[in-house]
Amino acid sequence: MKKTIFITILFYATCVCAVSWREIAKENDMMAGQEKIDAGADVNQKLEQGMTPLLWTTFYGSADVVRCLLEHGACKNDMNNVRYQDGYWIRKGWEAIDIAMTDEPMQGYGYASILKKDFARRAIIQMLLAHDKELAQRTLEVLNFRDSLDKATYSFLKFCTGVSFATFPTTCNTYRLAVECIANDIPGDFVECGVARGAQIAVMGYACQQYQCEKKIHLFDSFQGIPLAGPNDASQPGIRGPIKHNVNVPLEQLLVSSGVDVFSVSYVKNNMKRWGVEPHRLVYHEGWFQNTLPTDADKIEQICVLRLDGDLYESTKVCLEYLYPKIVPGGYLIIDDYALPGCAKAIHEYREKHGITCPIIKIPQGRGPAYWRVS
Ligand SMILES: C[S@@+](CC[C@H](N)C(=O)[O-])C[C@H]1O[C@@H](n2cnc3c(N)ncnc32)[C@H](O)[C@@H]1O
Repeated sequence: MKKTIFITILFYATCVCAVSWREIAKENDMMAGQEKIDAGADVNQKLEQGMTPLLWTTFYGSADVVRCLLEHGACKNDMNNVRYQDGYWIRKGWEAIDIAMTDEPMQGYGYASILKKDFARRAIIQMLLAHDKELAQRTLEVLNFRDSLDKATYSFLKFCTGVSFATFPTTCNTYRLAVECIANDIPGDFVECGVARGAQIAVMGYACQQYQCEKKIHLFDSFQGIPLAGPNDASQPGIRGPIKHNVNVPLEQLLVSSGVDVFSVSYVKNNMKRWGVEPHRLVYHEGWFQNTLPTDADKIEQICVLRLDGDLYESTKVCLEYLYPKIVPGGYLIIDDYALPGCAKAIHEYREKHGITCPIIKIPQGRGPAYWRVS
């Protein structure tokens, strides 16, 4: 008899607590949450279907209560024990947070499918808020921006991602910065060094056409692929294993095609035509950057977006030397290969040499690319 009463009371108490935390979460009622904790409630209490106070508050995106629970020692590991269908998405949300914070590529399920789930998105944002406010803000910006795209633009950016070497967030970022410069009347042209098939160029062209902007778009490329890596590079891009050639030779001897990413100028011109990029705004600079920039850089007065995507140390270095000084205040430098040690080295050396302190912003879910706003 005693046992039955005890079980009944325990069952009743558990149900009441579950409802309460859920109500608190729903209302984002921080005061009620705090009162409950002050009254001795267990922040890691096991509720129905494997839920916990933190899971409910994450589920409802109750930022204040999430923070309050975390401050009082709520355990994040319970995310792994959720049996609830929605909890599955919360758990995925937590994984995504880790990925967003470490920039590791997503394993298994695509991040995109998580972000489609409203509550999982809230979970991500809330948790990012608890860990890294700036990253939360940037992730939100990217997500909101993505949501704001009309269907035609979304489809075009998806298409460009498919023919690019970039991820969708990276392609979105090119478009977002291009549109921002156009909208804010930032003077100067768009430039990409390392265009491959021309996907990112097409994105810039699309933005110009959409907003009837008469900026020029400059395409710098050998149109015969990436050259050989040098002593400051960790690998030969696109070729697995250690570098096989002698890197300790004069630079001119490294300016030969590695055979990787070979797209001829006529192929790229044809792509532009097929993808609807108006030809009058495109300016082609064919040849090794080291040979074209000393003469062609002078033909560009100002730059609003400079996109560097040449993979190697020397390819990045020479572009910075000739083109960075032309970026106007309020314009952007995008570094597609920031994850590659050679490219990062060239960037850091240049920043140090010229005392550049503009914060480097990693593109959320871009898997490496970064950018900064020139001040
Ligand atoms: C990874 S691909 C560019 C990808 C392209 N931006 C995209 O998103 O699809 C690298 C490009 O850089 C070019 N490149 C690298 N180093 C170069 C150099 N020193 N001179 C000229 N072109 C170079 C290659 O020809 C190749 O097209």
